[in-house]
Amino acid sequence: MKYLKVTGGKQLQGELEIQGAKNSILPILAATLLNSGESVIHHCPKLQDVNASIRILEELGCHASWEDDTLIVHTETITCGKIPDEMMREMRSSVIFLGAILARCGRAVISYPGGCELGPRPIDLHLAALRALGAEIVEKGGYLHCSAEKLRGCEITLNLPSVGATENTILAACGAEGTTVLYNAAREPEIVDMQNFLQAMGADVQGAGSSTIVIHGKKQLHDCEHRIIADRIVAATYLAAAAATGGDVLLRNVDYRHLSTITAALKEAGCTVRSHLDWIQLRSESRLRAIRPVRTLPYPGFPTDAQAILMAALLKSSGTTVFIENIFESRYRHVAEFMRMGANIRTEGRVAVVCGVSVLHAAQVQATDLRGGAALAVAALSAEGESEISQVHHIDRGYADLVGDLRKLGAQIIRLDE
Ligand code: UD1
Repeated sequence: MKYLKVTGGKQLQGELEIQGAKNSILPILAATLLNSGESVIHHCPKLQDVNASIRILEELGCHASWEDDTLIVHTETITCGKIPDEMMREMRSSVIFLGAILARCGRAVISYPGGCELGPRPIDLHLAALRALGAEIVEKGGYLHCSAEKLRGCEITLNLPSVGATENTILAACGAEGTTVLYNAAREPEIVDMQNFLQAMGADVQGAGSSTIVIHGKKQLHDCEHRIIADRIVAATYLAAAAATGGDVLLRNVDYRHLSTITAALKEAGCTVRSHLDWIQLRSESRLRAIRPVRTLPYPGFPTDAQAILMAALLKSSGTTVFIENIFESRYRHVAEFMRMGANIRTEGRVAVVCGVSVLHAAQVQATDLRGGAALAVAALSAEGESEISQVHHIDRGYADLVGDLRKLGAQIIRLDE
């Protein structure tokens, strides 16, 4: 069994380069399918979910190879066959392949996607948008059979700004005749990154980062080269770890604007944060203070993916902080694990009330999902004694080298495989 052994109490100090964003590379790997040719993607994080996406590309007849942190994808041949159930279940983002395959081949067969268990994660918005573009989608034997003789651009309004549905719609619309206008689109930086990739490939997509995105489809696409943006949630994890341990860290290669709600929360808790263009420095000198309620919201609001991570940093704060999880129904599974370490938290539906304690003690805990798992590492770094975190495979889905990164900052953490 793989687990992490973390000895708490060490103040994190030093500098770190932040890996490429998981939530950028996954839709971009699907987007490579739009062109028949080569995509060169730099600063690509080596993650379980990236490997899963590569397996899907290979299943479709494409080819991908690594050169250091550059991934070179060849999409000249594509079989347009079905993506097997076990591949779809590996991660939620597998559903983004649907829009891209439809755009390229006019038909696709997939099953329902998997991913972290955060409550129900329907794909109704994805399917409604693809249907609006002209796709016929029939469910048979657990698979979705999708076909479209011709996709046609149209106006689509999402009834909530879903990240995945926005990406799926953009990809399918690139293969549609005419113009698609997508309203109430999600505004996450990773969608802007995907738009930049598509533009580099010759696609006509404008407006990502705002809530209206306009796609003129059927453009002549070509080979392209792109660099993935930094992972703002990985950066948030290391800022939270420094805040929780009274540390002083400098993160490089990260756009501070993407982390503004997280750095604002950490400043309110008493940390000193300085940032400029592509770096952020955080210093934490005294016990953190409780902060005003933290409400998770679509970007540019506070990200749901950083909820557990910020909570971990505030477990030992003075006072009470309320968290309100608005994006996912069941995203407090890390709370029971924090309580094994002596945290004082009550949850009621979408609300968690964290009363700061003066000491956390080491415990044997289990990663319950990707970000919840990383949050346990943050808590363990500020706990007294040696904690063990099991179910590390969840963390591997999104962190290229959590242990190596934290060790660079002086943390006492090792990975054991027994
Ligand atoms: C993406 C991110 C994930 C992040 C989430 C919210 C990737 C690979 N993953 O996930 O890390 O936590 O955004 O910021 O980018 N919904 C529906 N119907 C749909 C689609 C979504 O009801 O068809 C609901 C979901 O159940 C959820 C909310 O919309 O409650 C937001 O989900 P969405 O933005 O789609 O998240 P993902 O794209 O799955």
